[in-house]
Amino acid sequence: MINIPKGTKDILPKDSYKWQIIRNVANNIADKYNLKEISTPVFESTELFVRSDGDSSDIVNKEMYTFLDKGNRSITLKPEGTAGVVRSYIENGLGNEILPVKLFYITPCYRYEKPQAGRLREHHQFGVEIFGANSLASDIEAILIAYDFYKSFNIEPTVLINFLGCDECKQNYKKILREFVLPNLDNMCEDCHKRYETNPLRLLDCKSTTCQNFLAKAPLISECLCEKCKSKFNDITRMLTSIGIKYQIDPKLVRGLDYYTDLVFEFWDFDENLGKNALGGGGRYDKLVGSIGGKDTPVIGFGIGIERLLTYLENKNIHLKEKEPVDVYVASNTENENYVIKFVKSLRDKGFRVDSDLMSRSIKSQFKYADKINAKFVIVIGDDEINENKISIKNMRSSEQIKIWSNDVVEYLKQNV
Ligand code: HAM
Repeated sequence: MINIPKGTKDILPKDSYKWQIIRNVANNIADKYNLKEISTPVFESTELFVRSDGDSSDIVNKEMYTFLDKGNRSITLKPEGTAGVVRSYIENGLGNEILPVKLFYITPCYRYEKPQAGRLREHHQFGVEIFGANSLASDIEAILIAYDFYKSFNIEPTVLINFLGCDECKQNYKKILREFVLPNLDNMCEDCHKRYETNPLRLLDCKSTTCQNFLAKAPLISECLCEKCKSKFNDITRMLTSIGIKYQIDPKLVRGLDYYTDLVFEFWDFDENLGKNALGGGGRYDKLVGSIGGKDTPVIGFGIGIERLLTYLENKNIHLKEKEPVDVYVASNTENENYVIKFVKSLRDKGFRVDSDLMSRSIKSQFKYADKINAKFVIVIGDDEINENKISIKNMRSSEQIKIWSNDVVEYLKQNV
């Protein structure tokens, strides 16, 4: 037997209603905030992710699905949604008209991670990117959209936030961090040696306890921010407090991708054992559009993992409402297929949700099937019914069964479904 690739999941029919609900909620939230949907290809040129300005994150360096296509081009399955959207924004001149450009997407993402709880090789994200604004209002709006999305499921995760600062602050902090780490560098992991060279901010993201112990007393980014950045961060936290968003400042939050500047945030619930995984995260990235070849444009956005949300809802015993069963099952016991097919079609044309026998089963088996799919009504059509211009209809909840004129069936269903 051929099995599903490691780290991937089928969305089975029994669960697909949950995905439909999540998509609907995402669409409704997007509508409420006037976000327009964008879809970009599942694969992109590798250079979109491995840019000339370099990226030192594990996601880009270790986890990408990269291959040569038959034309010898290096192609990568998107590890995240942002870069493709930025590429499309530039390529299609989406910013040429009026700003801000407010976009959302639901996309699969591919990361060659060690499969474990909450870490898949194919996962899906609901993502939002707001191009063109660098204001307090846009920072708050990004967090609010995500917050609103979670609230639609009756959950209120904690928002962890940090502020990475402007270019100058970042450069300054990198220098300070390098100086702090240098005396202990020999005792730190191999990856941290690379991080020290390429992007010392990533040191804060190291998962090794030994390295984290060395870093416990490292100077914090917040202590090294310039006055302007400090005041921006203060404004954000003050505003979050005043609109009642629960947040915690995490001075070591740097996020798993390199493109962030200024505000970064993640959504967590520390009460739940989610395998220590964030439910979602994002931040501001004001340099990415420029580094991909577009005009410098401030952007803020986030991505929410759909599989992690589903696991979280399950752990919290929050049930999404299953789809209503079909209104009617049409059981037939006649050679006159033409009549039955037309009858079923006429009910669907009137807007009823209808299923019918496709297996030429006995009436008894058809009732069994109708029971199994939890149909609200079963209509029986046999030769007698056709000759009399009547149908038998059984209310499967009350077991009441009556015969009515075929012409009256639509009215009957309208009143009783
Ligand atoms: P990210 O934090 O790498 O950010 O991913 C966003 C969310 O996707 C995570 O918080 C998590 O819920 C989910 N996720 C990530 N990796 C996996 C995985 N291996 N298995 C299951 N779920 C996963 C980004 O991708 C950024 N593009 C977000 C963003 C948009 N920033 C600005 N705009």
